[in-house]
Amino acid sequence: IHVDWDAVTAEKNGFDHFMLKEIHEQPKAYRDTIRGRVDESGRKVVLKDLNLTEDRIKQIQNVHIVACGTAYHAGLVGGTVIEQLVRVPVYNDVASEYRYRSPLITPETLVIVVSQSGETADTLAALREAKSNGAHVLAVTNVVGSSIARDADDVLVTLAGPEIAVASTKAYSSQLIAFYLLGLYLAQVRGTQSEDQVAHMISAIQALPEQVESMLENSDAIKAYAEQISHNQHLFFIGRGLDYAVAQEGSLKLKEISYIHSEAYAAGELKHGTLALIEDGIPVIALATQDSVLEKTVSNIKEVKARGADVMVITHEEHVASLLKSVDQAFAIPKTLPLFTPALSVVPLQLLSYYASLALGHDVDKPRNLAKSVTVE
Ligand code: G6P
Repeated sequence: IHVDWDAVTAEKNGFDHFMLKEIHEQPKAYRDTIRGRVDESGRKVVLKDLNLTEDRIKQIQNVHIVACGTAYHAGLVGGTVIEQLVRVPVYNDVASEYRYRSPLITPETLVIVVSQSGETADTLAALREAKSNGAHVLAVTNVVGSSIARDADDVLVTLAGPEIAVASTKAYSSQLIAFYLLGLYLAQVRGTQSEDQVAHMISAIQALPEQVESMLENSDAIKAYAEQISHNQHLFFIGRGLDYAVAQEGSLKLKEISYIHSEAYAAGELKHGTLALIEDGIPVIALATQDSVLEKTVSNIKEVKARGADVMVITHEEHVASLLKSVDQAFAIPKTLPLFTPALSVVPLQLLSYYASLALGHDVDKPRNLAKSVTVE
C-alpha cells in the first residue's frame, strides 16, 4: 500500500483548527481504510498483505489487544467486535500495565497492538514483550514506516492520513474500521459467521462514511449543547457494552482539550458508588445505541435523573420520542448494526469536546501538558 502524505494535505484547508478538519475527514478516512479490502462481489473481506496464515488463524486461542490512550479505547471496541464475531476470548490492556504484568502469552495468542503514530514507547515495549514470548503480533497503525510497524509480524494500516491535532479523532475511528474488517476476516477463516452474515455486515460498514457525512452536516445542536456544558466543572458519561467503550473515549476527549473533569462509567455500575456524586444540575451524557441493553440503560438514566442530573442522550431516531420522557435532550445518530455504532456515536462526542474547548478559549489543537506522540516510557 502506497500512502501519499505531503505538507499541502496537512494544511487546515479552510477549517479553524486541525481537529475540526480531521473530524470532517472521517468519511474519507473510512473509505480509504475500506478500499481494496472487500472483494468485487462485496461479500468477502480480503486482507492480502497479512502474513498470518489461515492455519495460524485457526489455531488462535486468545487475543490480547494492547495500546495507550485513544488507541486503547479503539481496542476496547475491537475486543468486543472480535469476541462477538470470532468467539475467541479477548483481553484488553493498556501497554504500560501489560508489559509489567508477565502476561500469559503462548504461540496461540494473537497480540494486536494499536498505535496511530507507531512510535509510542510503551506500546513498542509491549510488542517486543509479546514477540519474545512467541506470539504473533499484528499492528494496527496509521504510519507504515513507524517503529511499531517495522517490529510487528503483521501490519494492518489505517488510511486516515496525517493527524496533526493532539486529540485523536480520525485515527481512532479508522482504527474501528480496521477492527471491523479484521474481525470479519478472522470470522470468515474460522467459519464463525455465514457468508450472508459477512456480506450483510460489509454493506453496513460501506454505508458508514455517508452516515458520518450526514451527521457532520447537522452539528449545530451539538455545538449549542457544548456551549451549555462548558460552564460545568464535572460531567459524567454513561453507557453499557460498546456504548461504555465509546463513553470512555468521549470522556478522554473532553478532558484532553476542554480540561473539564469527566468520568465515563458503565451505566449499571453507577449505583455502586459514583451515584453519590450526582446532584442537581450535573450533566450526564448517556449513550443508548445498543438495543439489547436499552431498557437497562433507561433505568440507569432514571436513577441519575431522580437525583437532579441534566441528561443528554445519544440514541437512534426511533427511540428519541420515548427517551425524551426521561431525559432533557436527545441527539439521534443514523441506524447501523449494533457492532458498528461506535463509528457513528463517537462523532457527536468529538464535536462536543471541540466546541466546548472552543467556547472556553483553549488551544484546541495543542492542549496543555500533552504531546501527540509519547516516545518516553
Ligand atoms: C498520546 C496522544 C494520544 C494517543 C496516545 C497513543 O498520549 O496524545 O492522543 O492516543 O499518545 O498514541 P498512539 O500514537 O500510540 O496511538
